[in-house]
This record gives sequence, C-alpha cells and structure tokens, in this order.
Amino acid sequence: MTLLRDERLAAAFDHAARSYDALVAVNPGYHAHLRRSARRLGLPGEGRGLRVLDLGCGTGASTAALAAVLPEARITAVDASAGMLEKAAGKRWPPGVTFTRAPVERLADAGVRGPYDAVFAAYLFRNVTDPDAVLATVRGLLAPGGRLGVHEYTLAGRRTDRAVWTLVCRGVVQPVAGALGDGALYRHLWRSVMEFDTAGRFADRLRTAGFEHVRRLPLPGWQTGITHTFVARRPRTERESGR
Ligand SMILES: C[S@@+](CC[C@H](N)C(=O)[O-])C[C@H]1O[C@@H](n2cnc3c(N)ncnc32)[C@H](O)[C@@H]1O
Repeated sequence: MTLLRDERLAAAFDHAARSYDALVAVNPGYHAHLRRSARRLGLPGEGRGLRVLDLGCGTGASTAALAAVLPEARITAVDASAGMLEKAAGKRWPPGVTFTRAPVERLADAGVRGPYDAVFAAYLFRNVTDPDAVLATVRGLLAPGGRLGVHEYTLAGRRTDRAVWTLVCRGVVQPVAGALGDGALYRHLWRSVMEFDTAGRFADRLRTAGFEHVRRLPLPGWQTGITHTFVARRPRTERESGR
C-alpha cells in the first residue's frame, strides 16, 4: 500500500474520528505521555500571557495535554480533518482554547498567524508530504526564542523497536481498526512510522531547519524506543542561526 496523504488522509481521519478516542484510551500512557511532552516545553507560569499553537490536534488529546499543563495559555488548535475537529470542538474547553480547520501547509490562508511562544505537534510530522516545508512554516510562526515540541513515533533504530512496533500494529491495532472500517488508516500508521525518520534523523532534521537547543527525549512503557519528545527553539536572532 502507498501512504495516505493530504485529502485522502483527511478523509480517512474523518471516518476514524468516531472511534479514535476509544482506541487511544486503551493505549497505555497515551494521554500521560502527551502531558509529559507538553511539560517538556518548559514554559513558565502555567502559560499566562503565552500563545501556543497545536498542529494536527485531532480530537483534542494533544490540546487537552497543553491545556492541563498550561491552563492560562491561549491555545489555537488546528487540524485538516473536519471529523476529528468536530469531535474536538464538541468537548468542554477553557475559554482560551480555539479550533481552526486547515491543513498545516495552508495555515496563513486560514488566518493562523504568529508570533507564537510555542508550537506543539503530536503525531503529525510523519503524516505530512514535506516535513521540511512544514518545519520552515513553524519556524516562521514562532517568536524569536519560541519553543517547538514534537511528540512522534520515531523509532530509535534498533531491530527490537521495529519488531515491537510491528507486533503492536499487526497484533493489536490493525485487527480492531479493520473491524471498525479503518483498516487503510491503521495500515498507513504502521508504514508511516517504518518509513519515517529515526529519532536521530528527526533531531538532525530540526537542526537543519534552523532550530537550536534540539533535544530528543524518551518516553516510558511499550513506547520506549518507539515514541519520543523533541524540544527545540527558534534562535533569538537570525545571526545566531547562521541564516
Ligand atoms: C494521529 S492524529 C493525532 C491527533 C492529536 N495530536 C493527538 O495527539 O491525539 C494526527 C492528526 O493530524 C492531522 N493531520 C495530518 N496531516 C495533516 C496536515 N497536513 N494538516 C493538518 N492536519 C493534519 C490528522 O487529521 C489527524 O487529526
């Protein structure tokens, strides 16, 4: 199978939106890991006075993690899938949280404009056609010194990580997703991770995109060696970044 991209991917998520929350609820650590990644942004004062952008917010799991860690921040959450966004927007949110439908490739057209103090993207980057172009957009949306947090399935590179990922997908996720009519999306999930950057390669990609203080941090549980948090900053001055 080929990977799903753009409109085909959004349509697959539209359909999967019905069961997405139930599936992630039985994934041990899913919500706690998102909160851990949100904390790793290291933003001060519960986010008071800060603007935060959640890219690929889905049904709002990553948005909820940001709102829990940064209850005072103004959070803009964006997704390309109408179905996922409808689920997200139907939940209860603090007043500072808003939702916008847009592909991350066309944020300006949807009125999403910086500067943001932080951009967070959970399980987004391996889904986009051109991750470097999206990173360039994100860099431009961040204030000087602004923080990027990426939470992503990025294999550490050991043979056992690939084996565990394949076992989880083929043995647990795909049989359930297939019965729900979402087989294509969850086959995409397996392949998109196998074909995407390793964690080290993604950290290098962030540096090449002009981010500094790039750190790659592990997560516990079955996700060890499979899911990582990446934190990085936009340089304060263009000279600092050599651009
Ligand atoms: C696996 S879900 C993750 C959702 C949420 N961040 C979470 O942590 O549960 C990935 C989300 O990214 C969205 N997405 C994928 N490609 C996108 C793009 N190019 N522009 C905007 N959203 C995109 C999908 O619609 C989907 O809702």
